[in-house]
Amino acid sequence: MAVLVSGTGSILEAMLAESVPVTLVLADRQCRALALAASSGIETELVDRGGFGGFGAGFDRWAFTRRVTDVLVAHGVDLVAMAGFGTVFARPVFEAFAGRILNTHPALLPAFPGWHAVEDALAAEVAVTGCTVHLATVETDAGPVLAQAEVPVLAGDTVQTLHERIKEVERRLYPATVKKMIDDLGVVGATDRALGATDRALGATDRAVGATDREVRR
Ligand code: GRF
Repeated sequence: MAVLVSGTGSILEAMLAESVPVTLVLADRQCRALALAASSGIETELVDRGGFGGFGAGFDRWAFTRRVTDVLVAHGVDLVAMAGFGTVFARPVFEAFAGRILNTHPALLPAFPGWHAVEDALAAEVAVTGCTVHLATVETDAGPVLAQAEVPVLAGDTVQTLHERIKEVERRLYPATVKKMIDDLGVVGATDRALGATDRALGATDRAVGATDREVRR
């Protein structure tokens, strides 16, 4: 599986500590998470936004998305987990990995979608916020929810203190949810393989019956 990063990578670190089978870390910019992956001996790929128009109006989202998709496919990736990834993808990656891209978001979706979820929750003066692990779809922060956990907002919280307490929870919830998804996919894969073996066995039986038929006809 691949983990997609842009920042400090503390959630990536938690995944590695929990033995989530990460085979590739892909970043859209130079960041601590990429260095962390490299020093942990994991394969890394940098698809730098700078090569696709950077962060301004000229950013070519489709070309960037296609490049990332090609890299993920070339690495034989089955499952993708975004962990603090700072680029919104265009459609192609969601078609190539339908139902296989996960994201963690620092709010209780559908409340406070978007990049400023922690600021927005503080500004709204909610008593409780939290985090959401969900399937990523072409509509940002709107895919099916897989897991959520609440985090209380405390008096005197700043964006930094609240985000850090949310991330403490994400570091447990995300690895656990990813592992469960891998187990579920593993069951599907094993079932597919078993059905394939049954098909092959039936094919062999068909061929044997055909040979017997020909014998009988002779
Ligand atoms: C997390 O809060 C995640 O929900 C958000 O970015 C943060 C990533 O933190 N999208 P880190 O880079 O893993 O420390």
